[in-house]
Amino acid sequence: MKVLLAAAEIFPLVKTGGLADVVGALPGALISAGAEVRLVLPGLPAILAGVEGLETVCELGAMFGAGRVTLRLGRIAHNGVSAYVIDAPYLYRRAGNPYQDGDGNEWPDNIQRFALLGWVAAHLAAGELDTDWTPEVLHAHDWHAALACAYVASHPGQRVATVFTIHNLAYQGLFPVQDFHLLGLPSRLMVSQGLEFHGNLSFMKAGLKFSQRVTTVSPNYAREIATEEFGCGLDGVIRVRGAAVSGILNGVDASVWNPATDDSIPSVYSARSLKGKGVCKSALQQELGLHVDAKAPLLAVVSRLTSQKGLDLVLAALPTLMQGSTGGGAQLAVQGNGDSALEAAFAAAAARYPGRVAVWLRYDEALAHRMMAGADAMLVPSRFEPCGLTQLYALRYGTVPVVRQVGGLADTVVDVTRESIQSDTATGFMFGQATTVGLDHALARALDAYRNPALWRQLMLRGMAQNFSWDVAAAQYLSLYSELLTDRVVGSAVAVA
Ligand code: ADP
Ligand code: GLC
Repeated sequence: MKVLLAAAEIFPLVKTGGLADVVGALPGALISAGAEVRLVLPGLPAILAGVEGLETVCELGAMFGAGRVTLRLGRIAHNGVSAYVIDAPYLYRRAGNPYQDGDGNEWPDNIQRFALLGWVAAHLAAGELDTDWTPEVLHAHDWHAALACAYVASHPGQRVATVFTIHNLAYQGLFPVQDFHLLGLPSRLMVSQGLEFHGNLSFMKAGLKFSQRVTTVSPNYAREIATEEFGCGLDGVIRVRGAAVSGILNGVDASVWNPATDDSIPSVYSARSLKGKGVCKSALQQELGLHVDAKAPLLAVVSRLTSQKGLDLVLAALPTLMQGSTGGGAQLAVQGNGDSALEAAFAAAAARYPGRVAVWLRYDEALAHRMMAGADAMLVPSRFEPCGLTQLYALRYGTVPVVRQVGGLADTVVDVTRESIQSDTATGFMFGQATTVGLDHALARALDAYRNPALWRQLMLRGMAQNFSWDVAAAQYLSLYSELLTDRVVGSAVAVA
């Protein structure tokens, strides 16, 4: 089966969040499961640099505001996966991240930058751009690639099956209706049954309306987005798609996240010998300027600082946590960047509690590994969370997650209760309401458990034994692709009859 994945980020070349981790790992898992996979990616500087042996497939000329667009094909340096790179210097060769400039402003030409990604994906899928390779399945990720589904659907007779994966419904790719003409799509699509969304045009809606199947990154989030509370205004559109929407849980890339082989951490360890984890903890305390104290429970956050992640609750819980008797000498280490108000508030907390609160407002992949390995518990108190990867990494590193019962967090953590301890299924602590009281309570339970070394060890080992494997997810994607291809064959047989 030939599958083309379209996305804007890929670990380790370009990453702003979990999407990159998924796009970095899923192709390899699909290939191991027997699929022939290629990627199509925007020619951002790090992607051009990280894809080897690029050769020109075709010159596309001037389009979407770029004077010159060239489609090239090469292999991702670190894993050898084939990738088409859209080389459009005018649109993509700039510093900053894929979506924003260095000051955090959206690139003003994002509509063209991501329409081009969708357009190229759709035309590759139509067999127009590379006569040597035509995919049977086009799998577009997040709003950045979603327009591909509209380009495919607007041309009758396209044979490719389309799958659209929502990684985060909150980021929708909304643009002024007046810019619709830039897309080169028929005007019949600019209606409320098409791309129109409250007076804007929505790339996300293109994926939701025009793909054959919609997936999201956990079964629970798939249910949640059909409700007003989590639907970001699109729950009606999602409900209409009914059984065409499903959830496939993300996995963990064990070649990147494995405490037994991780070369970013000071001492490797495994469930069989946890000694190295203690070394990682004291090294992390030292590195971050925390008191080096093996007994102090070290809580950590590794996160984008946005309202999604509920980190204001951590700030609000801090005074209680820092109290002698309740907090049990707890320490907090935060690594993240984003929202400037949250950055300032965490920086102030670090200044207020020297030696007990450390805050690193920067993006640093290796430090994220040291945090995972060195911390005792990982806090993920999200308001919503499509899947969440940090709690999965934490489990693997024997770092007990404290999470809100929402989205993929609820699918992946088993709350500590009397029953779950007895059945040895407990892996972490969960709270329901996104309130300070809710988080306070979960933290109090976690700190209590920490004071019981046998229980804590049981939680660590149960977490490390979890297997959130990409092989499982890849098998589910492949079976979904196969269903679509079977439907297509049956559909055309019916049409012929
Ligand atoms: P999201 O995609 O919503 O940000 P996920 O939990 O799915 O959330 O993925 C977050 C990814 O980004 C993880 O790989 C995490 O380690 C990483 N990450 C987040 N913030 C930072 C940071 N400041 N430095 C390094 N890695 C980070
Ligand atoms: C998004 C979500 C996150 C998910 C990631 C990868 O960024 O916010 O929950 O894990 O995508 O699918």
